[in-house]
Amino acid sequence: MCGIFGCIIKEGAAAPLIHQSLKRLEYRGYDSVGEATIHEGKLHIKKDSGKIDEVHKIRNLDDLPGNIGIGHTRWATHGAPLMVNAHPHVDCEGQIAVVHNGIVENFAELKLELEGKGHVFQSRTDTEVIAHLIEENLKNNPSLSLAEVVIETLRRIEGSYAIAVISPKEPDKIICARNESPLVVGLGENALYCASDIPAFLPLTNKAVIIEDGELVTLSLEGIEIRKIATSSLVMREPKIIDWTPEMAVKHGYPHFMLKEIHEQPVCLRNTLRLQEHYLDLMTTFLDRAREVFLVACGTSYHACLAASYMFSKLAFLVTYPVIASEFVEQHGKSVNIDSTILAVSQSGETADTLAAVNAARQRAATILGLTNVIGSTLTRVSRVYISQQSGPEIGVAATKTFTSQLAVLAQLALRLAKKRGKVSQDEMDFIEAKLKKLPEIVEAVVKNQEEKVKDIAKKYRDAKVFFFLGRGISTATAYEGRLKLMEIAYVPSIAFPAGESKHGPISLVEQGFPVIFICPKDETHKTVIGNIMEMKARGATIIAVIEEGDEEVKRLADDYVEIPKGVPDVLSPIPFVIPLQLLAYYMALERGYDPDKPRNLAKSVTVK
Ligand code: G6P
Repeated sequence: MCGIFGCIIKEGAAAPLIHQSLKRLEYRGYDSVGEATIHEGKLHIKKDSGKIDEVHKIRNLDDLPGNIGIGHTRWATHGAPLMVNAHPHVDCEGQIAVVHNGIVENFAELKLELEGKGHVFQSRTDTEVIAHLIEENLKNNPSLSLAEVVIETLRRIEGSYAIAVISPKEPDKIICARNESPLVVGLGENALYCASDIPAFLPLTNKAVIIEDGELVTLSLEGIEIRKIATSSLVMREPKIIDWTPEMAVKHGYPHFMLKEIHEQPVCLRNTLRLQEHYLDLMTTFLDRAREVFLVACGTSYHACLAASYMFSKLAFLVTYPVIASEFVEQHGKSVNIDSTILAVSQSGETADTLAAVNAARQRAATILGLTNVIGSTLTRVSRVYISQQSGPEIGVAATKTFTSQLAVLAQLALRLAKKRGKVSQDEMDFIEAKLKKLPEIVEAVVKNQEEKVKDIAKKYRDAKVFFFLGRGISTATAYEGRLKLMEIAYVPSIAFPAGESKHGPISLVEQGFPVIFICPKDETHKTVIGNIMEMKARGATIIAVIEEGDEEVKRLADDYVEIPKGVPDVLSPIPFVIPLQLLAYYMALERGYDPDKPRNLAKSVTVK
């Protein structure tokens, strides 16, 4: 996710202010930090890997000279969390410094082109191409201003970015710009700030100008100038007065991190769909070669694995075994060998049970593949190939945005493997790929249109003693995840089963008014699920259904329902269908008087076995 900051102050040193502001952005990422200032016609830079406090202890981030500067706190996406990959990044001459939050999709081709022109790169980041491209454009257009050259540069950048650029060539200006990554400008008394997020400057000023996608801003002590990147035309915008407390600001005005993170899912999915192709290809090659594939994880990540086993089977005809990590050694330890492949899925990359399973498999020469949110975590170090799921830091203990991102990565892998194996027709492939791209919008629509309805459902069922969650096929994984969420933050004892299995025992619990949540996409399981709904209704159950829009048949049977946009293919359905269940857990927790961000007895990352 990363956080960027920049400031120009009339009097005094910028560096300590940048340092303090980055601390307030640390929730956006914390594996590396860096600052650049301008003083007496020169750039001064300090950066390193590690948390801000650790780096400050060793390098003293406060003693950079100058009243203008930029800073960055990093959450690695391209390149490991090493000093060389920390921001700011500079051009060949050390005349342009750039900090960036986002992903430059076409960085590989731009890098190749720039290397062809003699540029020498220091890091493995996508960001560094921006600095070199600005340098190249400046060289070719010496009469243009820095802002004009940055505009030229950004017209060639594909992907997401919030950037801030400084250069001794125009030592009194910060140029910043945005596309799909957040950027706000703060207007202080005798000072100007730009940042990824309002909390960065909120103690300094509450006057903010929100920058929109496709806009570039020039900051100088004279004021700000906003232009459209596409047309260079001027934009006029009045500042807003922000009346948030600092705590509200970190949560972006949401009362809890969990709700903020549920709402962040469309953005996270957009980032997840921008994964570097060659990592996906590499992992696909390993999966294709494997004799047996175990999908190993804990908690929510295990539910992503369970869903993935359906994706791999349906799309790529690959049999995979989802295994709860703490059971892996007992269940499969002895049979694992050099032909086995373990795909370990862990948001943190540090879960002790997952790492123990991975280590046991490594000792038996198995191939380890990793999917994680934290580059530099233990899982990335022990994996032959790893993919970063690009969700940004998740603070709520209950995993929400990291679950849907994991599913989106696993779906991309399954699709690639299907393509490689020629198992799915081109038409089907095109259809699923198109829907995958639309998922951020679909999820956005679910959050926007269904939240109030879910809130009402939570109110209505707030005193329920127990819930059933039932689904068939891939929706079994969605049911398990919905149940885990409700249990862990609202403390409602809940039971999840594949709907078909419910009649082999669980149904005996059902009596008048017993709430049963059915996950009901209109896939091949739909008819059978309706049979299961009837079975439950016949015994007096109250039915709450998550359905596709316009599913009149289930609407007639259900006491309450929540609707998901039509036409999501079954292999992708857990992504939108889990959203109402996350919201239900959240609002049930509130109804029952609990803090959803701090569930009792749980930890975000469990590093003991
Ligand atoms: C803990 C967290 C869960 C998470 C699980 C696995 O139980 O509370 O939210 O799903 O660990 O964590 P991992 O980091 O390995 O995905």
